[in-house]
Amino acid sequence: MKIKFSNPNIFNEDLNLVKNIIKSGWLAHGKYTLLFENEIKKFTKAKYCCLVSSCTAGLHLSCIASGFKKGDEVIVPAMTHTATAHAVEYTGAKVVFADNHNFTGNLNLKSIKKKITNKTRGLIVVHMSGIPCEMTEIVNFCKKKNIIIIEDCAHALGTFHKKKHVGNFGVTGSFSFYPTKQITTGEGGAVVTNDLKFYKKIKKLKGFGIDKDIKDRKKQGEYDVKDLGYNYRMTDFQAALGYKQIKKYKNNLKIRKKIAKRYIKNLQNLKGVVFEPFSNNNSYFVFQIFCQKRDFILKEFKKLGIGVSVHYSTPINRMSYYKNKYKINLKDYVNSDLYSKTNISLPVYPKLKNFEIDFICKTLIKLTRNEK
Ligand SMILES: Cc1ncc(COP(=O)(O)O)c(C=O)c1O
Repeated sequence: MKIKFSNPNIFNEDLNLVKNIIKSGWLAHGKYTLLFENEIKKFTKAKYCCLVSSCTAGLHLSCIASGFKKGDEVIVPAMTHTATAHAVEYTGAKVVFADNHNFTGNLNLKSIKKKITNKTRGLIVVHMSGIPCEMTEIVNFCKKKNIIIIEDCAHALGTFHKKKHVGNFGVTGSFSFYPTKQITTGEGGAVVTNDLKFYKKIKKLKGFGIDKDIKDRKKQGEYDVKDLGYNYRMTDFQAALGYKQIKKYKNNLKIRKKIAKRYIKNLQNLKGVVFEPFSNNNSYFVFQIFCQKRDFILKEFKKLGIGVSVHYSTPINRMSYYKNKYKINLKDYVNSDLYSKTNISLPVYPKLKNFEIDFICKTLIKLTRNEK
């Protein structure tokens, strides 16, 4: 049996739409960018949304719009994708790594407080594997300290904290539509915000810093550039693909939660494997488990054709670029180290069948009991 780690929720009608857009020749600046942005706003209840070429681009523009610069310090989790730290690093600000909470992988207030100095300007929280960070505590603390919060929501479309969608707690929230994510546009991302100033700035910077949209230009090709912008836009056929998937996402999310419940039921009494209890707030990007025999299990799963992943196997503070540049004291990161050595991401997607989930679980049970 071969089980994929991810399998996008894309159907023939979606492919036909993409084909028609490509055939039309109107591949960028089309109507699907707006339509997809509107659906993201509806789903997250954020006031503004900007599609971008990746979550990394969204985080980068969020850091620029926050004014991070050389001399500032911005706290990021040690346990995350390198994109979170890179976004800060591009601005010249100093990346300061905080240790994560055991098992959720998220930052918590205790770990953040340890890294605060009088240079701390910002904080990027990551809602790891779709589990929300404790945003009430974090927001209250950061307000008092005047620290800007940016949310990395790469794993978190459909994740809520106290009935509010993540991405609405910081100045911005950036989502990823990479192929393994809950919805995909190939490469792609979106930034949501409730602050008009941030929206305007990000919208301008994602298109070279050009001051006028095509529709607002009096004469063709006439515009000014007052800022150093980027080309971080998404094409219209990608936006159409995302639009079709987000329309079906409520149902997708329900299925993701059912899959998580099935994993939990199958694995609940298994010694040597731990995981978070079920939560309706979690969007289950993956089903994250932790086991001491992680590397052995990964090897055996590979032999059997079971697609699983690791998020992540090296904390960012241990990556050569950051370790060498910042001369980091590696002893400070006990939880991230443990997390990186023990985590396995089990697949979660609507096309995953019950018998496949049961096969993954049965195999895991056998392997943790040393049976082959
Ligand atoms: C936590 C986190 N942040 C940011 C990113 C970057 O996303 P993208 O590939 O859309 O740039 C990823 C990628 O998977 C991620 O896992």
